[in-house]
Amino acid sequence: MTPPTTIPAGTAAGVSRRAALLLGGAGAAVALVGCSTGTAATGQPGAAKTDTGGSTTVAKLADIPVGGSVEASLNGKPILVSRPSAGKVVAFSAVCTHQGCVVKPVGKEFDCPCHGSKFDAMTGEVLGGPAPSPLVAVPVSVTGDSVTAT
Ligand code: FES
Repeated sequence: MTPPTTIPAGTAAGVSRRAALLLGGAGAAVALVGCSTGTAATGQPGAAKTDTGGSTTVAKLADIPVGGSVEASLNGKPILVSRPSAGKVVAFSAVCTHQGCVVKPVGKEFDCPCHGSKFDAMTGEVLGGPAPSPLVAVPVSVTGDSVTAT
């Protein structure tokens, strides 16, 4: 007889739950790395730059320095939007994967004020500290000067 299998908190299942909670309002069930090069291709000539249906503007591209990041929010949850290069933008949940404190941008890192975890601001990967996993990626794209969560 085999005992039932349990999934401990902080495993992939835990991350997926956090991603679902973060993106719940956007109707997304999957949180994968979100990035874009240049403008988003909509396939619609002259497409409006305003939000439609499932996308929400989270930042202005001009406000994000190349190689830097800004704090933002999505559905009331804190996120961080980074710009690895002029034409690429990525975003992450600002909720630390250790115990849920809100991490802050510090140079090219995101630092957690609670227990000292550090994350790469361009990839969300753990650089140090007790955090067990990378920050949860938030899919974003660029349309004109707006960064939108998709
Ligand atoms: Fe971030 Fe503990 S909550 S390091």
